[in-house]
Amino acid sequence: MPVYTVSNVQNIRVCVVMVGLPARGKSFISQKIVRYLSWLSIQAKCFNVGNYRRQHAGAEQPNADFFDFGNKEAYKIRQHAVTMAVEDMMRWFNEKGGVVAILDATNSTSERREWILKLCRENAIEPMFLESWCDDQDLILRNISEVKTTSPDYQGIDPDVATKDFLERISKYESVYEPLDEEVDKDKTFVRLINVAQQVIINRIETYLESRIVFYVMNLHIRPRSIWLSRHGESIYNVEKKIGGDSHLSPRGLQYASKLPELVKRSAGDVDLTVWTSTLVRTGETAQHLPYKQLQWKALDELDAGVCDGMTYEEIEEIYPEDFKARDDNKYEYRYRGGESYRDVVIRLEPIIMELERQENILIITHQAVLRCIYAYFMNVPQEESPWMSIPLHTLIKLEPRAYGTNVTRIKANIPAVSTYKEKGTSQVGESDLNSGNSRSVLTSAPELNEQQEST
Ligand code: ATP
Ligand code: F6P
Repeated sequence: MPVYTVSNVQNIRVCVVMVGLPARGKSFISQKIVRYLSWLSIQAKCFNVGNYRRQHAGAEQPNADFFDFGNKEAYKIRQHAVTMAVEDMMRWFNEKGGVVAILDATNSTSERREWILKLCRENAIEPMFLESWCDDQDLILRNISEVKTTSPDYQGIDPDVATKDFLERISKYESVYEPLDEEVDKDKTFVRLINVAQQVIINRIETYLESRIVFYVMNLHIRPRSIWLSRHGESIYNVEKKIGGDSHLSPRGLQYASKLPELVKRSAGDVDLTVWTSTLVRTGETAQHLPYKQLQWKALDELDAGVCDGMTYEEIEEIYPEDFKARDDNKYEYRYRGGESYRDVVIRLEPIIMELERQENILIITHQAVLRCIYAYFMNVPQEESPWMSIPLHTLIKLEPRAYGTNVTRIKANIPAVSTYKEKGTSQVGESDLNSGNSRSVLTSAPELNEQQEST
């Protein structure tokens, strides 16, 4: 089965060169791009020069003087750090088949950027500069207190002292900083994000891959928000152990639908949510009592099981034994005859992810396979694991995206439901949710409503 993704359409390799003063969200943006592209099966990796600098300079914590461009000793260490990062990056491109690398550093002078540009050209890599420019002092201070005072550079240091030192570090960079310039840099591929994405300047974006990255970063925002996820309530088909179909909820599923408003209210308070459902009856029924605006998305429909739609796993094993085995062997890639694979679902979910990045408080009610794919994006779950994740019925999941990860809270409704989890190598459903040692799984019929937290 040919694997077709945006990464192999043009056989292009891109180096995204971050540009910007400290505390402008460069690492935040870099990590998000890597997570997004990896989710789309595009080999992507971030090379953070700060980490190389820490490795090379040892455990000693630098103060702002270390970043003074007149400090020759320190400058040598910093040059060495970026050289090591670039060397590793080139090795990754050449030996590991890398497609998109992010060079995460301030890259604040044109001299540095010309050096990287030249290296990229010599190695047939497309350089794309991505500058985060920001003069919102309140936001910068918030960024410092959110992520910088807790960085390894300031371990054990009083947050006020760390903040003052970090502001001094910024001023050292300001003294040499040369922003990208529409005239001087007119021949380069670049994107400038001004005050997050209040204004976006785009120059010479030439490849499809670059345009995907630009479109993605344009949609990012940093306002606090939460995303709630739930499977539909238990359906008649779930009880009959059948997959697919468009059945109604079972009596217990209807009970979950009745309880959902209270669960959501408890978790979201008075936040005004928008509910997204699929076009299938069971998600609409689950959402029926929710007092929020609702929107149906065809893209949220369950993975299409093709000729196996409406069968039990036992029937599939009996009628299509080869397919049954092939799916267990590679569940992410296996495409049902006349239906879809997990990879297909990820591709059709891309607009959902893009819209989720743009929006604030959304509750999604959808299906097991679709939820696995969405959850995998936020939690950076690798493809070989994501189709095997346990996402039980009658559980509300709250995701809170943070600077470098996502907090997760699972809230169980305390309404029993069958388990629809099928373990590898068996056609039985139902054992894993109750017995699995997998830390991601939760009992569907817990004795009382309780919360469980995890994070990336
Ligand atoms: P440094 O150069 O010191 O490594 P940095 O530019 O990489 O700093 P981050 O560590 O990414 O900065 O800062 C994370 C913070 O930046 C988060 O709190 C995030 O909300 C915020 N942020 C994300 N995007 C932007 C943006 N475009 N402009 C300003 N702040 C942003
Ligand atoms: O805070 C600035 C920082 O992220 C440092 O941790 C890191 O050493 C430096 O930027 C890397 O950028 P450059 O090599 O451009 O100074």
